[in-house]
Amino acid sequence: MFYAQLLTLFPEFFDSPLSCSIPSRAIAAGIVSVETIQIRDFATDKHHKVDDSPYGGGPGMLMKPEPVVASIRAAREKHPDTHVVMLTPSGARFTQAKALEFTEKPGITLLSGRYEGFDERICDYVDEELSLGDYVLSGGEPAALCVLDAVIRLLPDVLGSPESAVLDSFTEEGILDWPHYTRPELFEGKGVPEVLLSGNHAEIGKWRRAQAIQRSKNRD
Ligand code: ADE
Repeated sequence: MFYAQLLTLFPEFFDSPLSCSIPSRAIAAGIVSVETIQIRDFATDKHHKVDDSPYGGGPGMLMKPEPVVASIRAAREKHPDTHVVMLTPSGARFTQAKALEFTEKPGITLLSGRYEGFDERICDYVDEELSLGDYVLSGGEPAALCVLDAVIRLLPDVLGSPESAVLDSFTEEGILDWPHYTRPELFEGKGVPEVLLSGNHAEIGKWRRAQAIQRSKNRD
């Protein structure tokens, strides 16, 4: 079974999304196990302090190294083979190819921080730093959730139709999905492309590929 360990100050953040749809079914089917680890449990001072102000001054608070590194150590102790990923806007961009790469590991540990970020020295204790994109979230949790969701749906036997995951390989090559249509055939005066109603699967395939390429060019 693939495992995910989530290091966070807000374990409850993940409750609702993981109890819906594909992730919840994958968990119920025993394909993936998800465990949260509360970073605050590793703070040793009286007030369980996990953040502090930056040396050199400036706004905001940083995640302190001691509790974060202790929580990473606990995660590595539970799963010595784990791959630890820090979610940070300064990391490398998370991609579909990366999601696929993670499915080949026994499991992953996703480290989310709050406040203005992490003390830089924490980076020495993780295997990789990933960003969801060029914008700043209020914390790593939404990013960790996206990474986990993207990985779960690629695990063997999670998707109803194995074809769905194969088709994702187009996004991996940098080509987006083609446009999709379902009933009704006419919606508020807008029709469905004729070729999709033709029953000619070779032509449909060609059209979809061409549309996907066109779309990918337009979005660059
Ligand atoms: N934490 C805050 N913003 C983030 C982002 N864009 N990606 C990953 N982690 C983050």
